[in-house]
Amino acid sequence: MNGLDIVERVLFSSEDIQQRVQELGQEISKDYRRGLGQDARKRPLLVVGLLKGALPFMADLIRALDIPLEYDFIAVSSYENGTSPGEVRVLKDLERAVGGRDVLIIEDIVDTGHTLRHITRRLWAREPASIRICTLLDKPHRREVEVLPDYVGFVLDAPWFVVGYGLDFGELHRNLPYIGALRPDLITD
Ligand code: PRP
Repeated sequence: MNGLDIVERVLFSSEDIQQRVQELGQEISKDYRRGLGQDARKRPLLVVGLLKGALPFMADLIRALDIPLEYDFIAVSSYENGTSPGEVRVLKDLERAVGGRDVLIIEDIVDTGHTLRHITRRLWAREPASIRICTLLDKPHRREVEVLPDYVGFVLDAPWFVVGYGLDFGELHRNLPYIGALRPDLITD
């Protein structure tokens, strides 16, 4: 099964997403051009993508940013069946040093907040000048720990399981160009 076979309904079309990405790109570019960054040495913004889900969003967003930037990745995975709910495993760390730099973290979705809390704590320990967060989707009603993204594409307040544009169901469907609600009958637990 693929695409529309597994989707109950399309929540955000490819056109919706691309339009919002352009808006976010303009807003973020304007903020950093106006001096939001705090790097005393004025180095380019360091954009950090959280793999794997953020990849399509990040690929589009960086091309909508009209400011000097570098980018790097952290690969994370949530512990699913461990004894520590909300614990986050870092599978791949940054290659770039973040000390004194302005960092913009890119996420596909903020749910409980555990992933971003873990990653921001980890990065703050390296003493960057600033950290801001941009997420395509935010589910504030699901939050278990406080995380406040600075830039949000869309707020999702319905209890949908979402797939597409980087979001997976059993590692599949990340390549859908839209974001859809998974058919409820496909969710087993
Ligand atoms: C997903 C998503 C976020 C995180 C959000 O990642 O990409 O990183 O969960 O959930 P939280 O706010 O409850 O922590 P996942 O661990 O599924 O990995 P993936 O990006 O490879 O899909």
